[in-house]
Amino acid sequence: MSDERNDDALGKAYDARLLRRLWRYVRPHRGLVVLALVLLFVLSAVQLAQPYLIKVAIDDHIAQRELDGLGIVAALFLLSLVAEFGLRFAQFYVLERTGQNVVLDIRTAVFAQLQRLPSAFFDRNPVGKLITRVTTDVEALNEVFTSGVVMILADLVKLAGIVAILLWMDWRLALVTFSVLPPTLALTWFFRMRMRRAYRRVRATVARLNAFLQENVTGMRIVQLFARERVAEQQFVDVNREHRRAQLDGVRYDSAFSALAELVGAITLAAIVWFGGWGILQGLVSFGTLVAFIEYSSRFFRPVQELSQRYTVMQSAMAAAERIFELLDSEVPIRSPERAHRPASRPPGEIVFENVTFGYRPDEPVLRDVSFRVAPGQKVAVVGWTGSGKSTLIRLLVRLYDVDRGRVLLDGVDVRDYALHELRRAVGIVLQDHFLFSGTVESNISLGDPRISAERVRRAAATVNADRFIERLPSGYAEEVRERGSNFSVGEKQLLSFARALAFDPAVLVLDEATASVDPETEREIQGALKTLLAGRTSIVIAHRLAAIQDVDRILVLHRGAVREQGTHEELMRREEGIYRTLYSLQAAGT
Ligand SMILES: Nc1ncnc2c1ncn2[C@@H]1O[C@H](COP(=O)(O)OP(=O)(O)OP(=O)(O)O)[C@@H](O)[C@H]1O
Ligand SMILES: [Mg+2]
Repeated sequence: MSDERNDDALGKAYDARLLRRLWRYVRPHRGLVVLALVLLFVLSAVQLAQPYLIKVAIDDHIAQRELDGLGIVAALFLLSLVAEFGLRFAQFYVLERTGQNVVLDIRTAVFAQLQRLPSAFFDRNPVGKLITRVTTDVEALNEVFTSGVVMILADLVKLAGIVAILLWMDWRLALVTFSVLPPTLALTWFFRMRMRRAYRRVRATVARLNAFLQENVTGMRIVQLFARERVAEQQFVDVNREHRRAQLDGVRYDSAFSALAELVGAITLAAIVWFGGWGILQGLVSFGTLVAFIEYSSRFFRPVQELSQRYTVMQSAMAAAERIFELLDSEVPIRSPERAHRPASRPPGEIVFENVTFGYRPDEPVLRDVSFRVAPGQKVAVVGWTGSGKSTLIRLLVRLYDVDRGRVLLDGVDVRDYALHELRRAVGIVLQDHFLFSGTVESNISLGDPRISAERVRRAAATVNADRFIERLPSGYAEEVRERGSNFSVGEKQLLSFARALAFDPAVLVLDEATASVDPETEREIQGALKTLLAGRTSIVIAHRLAAIQDVDRILVLHRGAVREQGTHEELMRREEGIYRTLYSLQAAGT
C-alpha cells in the first residue's frame, strides 16, 4: 500500500472487477438482495400508479359527474399510500440489513488480515490509516447498497416508468416536460462537480483535524508541561479556519443548487400548466391528464438530481473498496510453512544464529553476518550501545521479521520451518516496552488463553514476586487495567509482563530489558523475579544495567550490528580497550 495514496481520491463510479469481488461477500446474503429488488419494483409500481389514479378520478368520475366508483378509486389511492408506506419501510430495512451483514463480514476479514500481516507492514502504515480501513472505508461500502447500486436501479426504473407513462398519456405535453431536462442536467452536473470538490476539501480538513486532535489529546501532558497551549490553540484555529472555508464553499454551491432546482421545477410546472391549459381549452388534453402531469413531473426531477449524488457515493465507495481489497491482497510474507516441523513437547531450546544479515530497509543492514549459539539451558546476555541491533535479534528469532541472509535455528530446525504459533509458544518474550491491554490484571497475564487457569496465573505472579503488589490492589487480580496499562507504574508493568511470560512456561525465554530505571527496592524484586524466570530454561537477556548480568554464562557484545566480543564478564573485563569494558566502566562511573 503506497503511502502517497490520497485516502480521499475518487475513482471510477463503476468498476466491474471491484464489484465482482464485492459480490463474493454479497453472495451469502443474496436472498436479501433479491427480496430488496422485488420490493423495489413493487414500490416503484405503486408510486407510479398514484398520479394515474388521480387522473382516473378526475377524468372518469369528477368531470363526468359520475360518482359511482369514485369511492373505489379513492380506496385504491388510500391503499396505495398504505402500501407505499409499508414497502418503503421494508425495502429500506432489507437494504440496510444486507449492507450491515456485508459490512460485518468484510470488517472481520480485514481485521483477520491485519492480524496476519508482519511487523514490517505496520512500520510502513500509520495506525490511523489502518483504523480508517476497518471503520470508515468499510462503512462506505455499505452505501453501495443503501444508496448506491440498488437505489440507482430504483431511480432508473422510476424514470423509465414516468417517461413511458407520460408519452403514453400525451406525447406533446410529455415533450414539453422533457424540454427542461437538458438545462437541469447541465445545472446538476455543474454544481455537483463543484460541490464534490469542496466536500473533498472538507473531508481532508476533517482528517487533519482528527490527526491534530489525536496527537494533542494523547500528548496533552507534554503540551501542558511545556506550556505549549497557546501554540497548539493557534494551530487548531488555523486548521479549523480552513475547515470552515471549505465547508462554506460547499454550502454555497449546495444552497445555490437547491434554489435553482426549485426554480427549474417551478418553470416546468408553469410550462406544463401553460401548454396543458391551452390543450384543455383546445379540447386536446383532459383535465385529469394535466393534474397527473403536474404530479409526475414533480416525481421526475428528484431522481434526475439524485442520480448525480448517487454517482458520487458510488465513486467514493469504489475508492474505499479499492483500498480495502488492496489491504486484503497485501502479501503475508511471514506465514507458517505448508508442512510445519513440530517441536518436541518439551523442546531443549538450543538457539543458533548462522551468518544472519538483516535490514529493515533494503541495503541498510542492521545486523551483519551475526553468528552465535546458545546451548540448551544456557543464559546469555546481549549488550551494546543503543541502536546496535539487540532488539532486532529477538525479532528475528520469533519471526516478527525474516532474515535477509543466513539462518536462525531453534533446536537445529530453521525457525521458518515451524508453525508460527508453535514457534512463538516455544519462545517466551518480554518486550522492551511493556504493553498491557485493557481488561483485568488476570486477563493480562493469561491473555484469555483457556489453557491458563486462574491457579496458574496466581502461581506465575507469585514466582516473579508480582503477587505482593497485585494483592494490594483494591480488586486484586480483577483490578481493571486501563488502556495501555496507564494506571500501573513502569516496574509493575514489568512484573506483570514477567508473569505473563512465565504463565506460558516457554522453553526459551527472551527478555528485552527496559531502559527505564526503577527504585533499588523494585530493582531487587525484579532481579529476584528474573532469576526464577530464567531458571531451568535457555534464555537471552538483553541488558542495559550491566551490573545485573555478571552471573550469566556468556555475554555477547553487539556493536553496529555485528558480534564484536563474547565471553564471561571476567574475560571481557580483561580486554584492554574492549567495548564491554568501556561500557561497563562508563556505567560504573555514572552510578
Ligand atoms: N521498525 C524499524 N524500522 C526501521 N528501522 C528500525 C526499526 N526498528 C529498529 N530500527 C533501526 O535498527 C537499528 C537497531 O535497532 P534495535 O531496536 O535493534 O536497537 P537496540 O540495540 O535494541 O537499541 P536499544 O538499546 O535502544 O533498545 C536502529 O538503528 C534502529 O533505528
Ligand atoms: Mg532495543
